[in-house]
Amino acid sequence: MKRILVTGGAGFIGSHLSHHLLAQGHAVTVLDDFSTGTLERLERAGPNDRLRVIEGSILNPDVVAAAVQNCEMVYHLAVQCVRRSIGKPIANHDINATGTLNMLESARRAKSASSIVPHQRSMATLRTDCWARMRSSASR
Ligand SMILES: NC(=O)c1ccc[n+]([C@@H]2O[C@H](COP(=O)([O-])OP(=O)(O)OC[C@H]3O[C@@H](n4cnc5c(N)ncnc54)[C@H](O)[C@@H]3O)[C@@H](O)[C@H]2O)c1
Repeated sequence: MKRILVTGGAGFIGSHLSHHLLAQGHAVTVLDDFSTGTLERLERAGPNDRLRVIEGSILNPDVVAAAVQNCEMVYHLAVQCVRRSIGKPIANHDINATGTLNMLESARRAKSASSIVPHQRSMATLRTDCWARMRSSASR
């Protein structure tokens, strides 16, 4: 059993992933600000004492650092839809870019997370290689 952090775990993809990971026997920490996600999505599968829910933003480094503690893996799915960037481009950029950087930095500092899976398909190839490079440069 691993403890796995799912950011955006109350969203469409994140809630399905969280249920799947719990069904596989893992412990799941969800970090979500509930701006578009809902608790109902997570509660759909009934109570589970392996599920921990943290309400907070990936823009808050302290919250992200606390969430990643003791997690061996991170699925980073907290995101604002690109359609929202038309009306709120700066806020959208902050969450999708700076929020992702916060997540990567917290995972690097925690050293407990062995891999991070970002939400953008184009970034998927960064997964293990990127993390291995980050770990090796951090240990120098
Ligand atoms: N929905 C799809 O069909 C689909 C298909 C392929 C890929 N994806 C990708 O998967 C990812 C997630 O998509 P989704 O459809 O689940 O989106 P979603 O909007 O349902 O979920 C995003 C979650 O992130 C949370 N969130 C937003 N800002 C946050 C912040 N500052 N701090 C913490 N949490 C925050 C929201 O509350 C929400 O629960 C996206 O990158 C998307 O491109 C989605």
